[in-house]
Amino acid sequence: MVGVSGGIAAYKAAELVRALQRQAVEVHVVMTASAQKFVQPLTFSALTGHTVITSLWEEWGPGAPEQNGIDHIAEAQWADVLVVAPATANILAKFAHGIADDFLSTLYLATTSPVIVAPAMNVNMWNHAATQGNLETLRQRGVGIVEPGTGDLACGMVGAGRMAEPETIAAAVVSALGRRHDLAGEVVLVTAGGTREALDPVRFIGNRSSGKMGYALAEAARSRGARVILISGPSSLQAPAHCELVRVTTAEQMRGSVLARMDEATLVIKAAAVADYRPLAVSAQKLKRAGLLRLELAPTEDILAEVVRRRKAGQLIVGFAAETENRMENGRAKLLAKGADAIVVNDVAGDGIGIDSDMNAATFLTRATAVELPQMPKRQLADRILDEILTFRRPRPVVVELDEARDVEARQKQAIQDRVLDESLPVGAGRRQLIVE
Ligand code: CTP
Repeated sequence: MVGVSGGIAAYKAAELVRALQRQAVEVHVVMTASAQKFVQPLTFSALTGHTVITSLWEEWGPGAPEQNGIDHIAEAQWADVLVVAPATANILAKFAHGIADDFLSTLYLATTSPVIVAPAMNVNMWNHAATQGNLETLRQRGVGIVEPGTGDLACGMVGAGRMAEPETIAAAVVSALGRRHDLAGEVVLVTAGGTREALDPVRFIGNRSSGKMGYALAEAARSRGARVILISGPSSLQAPAHCELVRVTTAEQMRGSVLARMDEATLVIKAAAVADYRPLAVSAQKLKRAGLLRLELAPTEDILAEVVRRRKAGQLIVGFAAETENRMENGRAKLLAKGADAIVVNDVAGDGIGIDSDMNAATFLTRATAVELPQMPKRQLADRILDEILTFRRPRPVVVELDEARDVEARQKQAIQDRVLDESLPVGAGRRQLIVE
């Protein structure tokens, strides 16, 4: 779905439509009222062969607005990607704040597909704190932004604000389409947030986890086509759209919910900061201040380790590790001790990243690999983690060279672990190649 809002670059949206059609993408177009001041809807209907959506309402006679025959919810479901080009400061502000007063802004709220915007405006409007703030909100929400270029602007000024080239925008759309369905058919169970262990009717032992990383993972998995079950400790975050949210409070409740639902999942991601200890006894009455107070704590069950023990064939299990020191050693120890397929190791000692922050940096650790994921917004990191999980599940073929002398035994062992794609490649001097998955 190409959305065209009102700017001088609106005519370039026709080139974007053509560029997408060259990539065999079917395009529908929706125009805002001000876009129609720049380009006629007829241009786009001629290019696409579809009616161009120009309004939520259609005039059926004097003073009698009727709902347009085109339903925005149906269109939102039809679209695999929504790309807005040009995106004016006004439409960016509406998207950022959830204002739905025309077809395009309503469609933005109704779609669960990836959204890309290609801003175009005067340089001062682009640099304004309001526009930059709105862009940051959208970026955090996972909206793809194809940055404008710098040069002569239609208003006569020179600077940033020229819409990116249609080919560049089309490439961003095609890449979003490519990843759109890579989790289709998967059921992803995500745990998020911290748990709370009651001390008395008003107090608890908890931690600073906000749930942001887990919620970002749930949202990313959902937008890539998975069915998502999100099991969350107390969190002030909005439930991500179209995910099944199960709210829990204590580690034991989280354990119960995870074990009850894990059989449905093809992928389990345990991002929750689960309490390791709970008070041995919970006071029925509010504890009174009375000098030194000693608490007796009992360990909770390790849910991740239990999930690994009960896993079904083919189920992938990914844990998190929150570390303040010896990150890699501790992460690797957790990977081995808990038996997960991978551990996302976070450094939670740093300022401005990790627990309760919008940013994070991590290492995706498996038994064989360690991939550094540098500091970025959690929503973006969520997609990178899912990319690594998919790579882990579908490893690229690798070439293994074997000495002839060890060939037979080694090949037998190898074949048990790996699917041998091709073993008929002698490479000379007593060596052979196996291509294995
Ligand atoms: N975890 C769990 N159940 C617990 C504690 C932790 O399932 N009772 C999971 C977390 O969700 C996370 C992983 O185990 O995926 C590692 O959590 P972390 O707090 O880093 O490690 P712990 O196992 O608690 O070890 P420690 O606190 O000693 O570092």
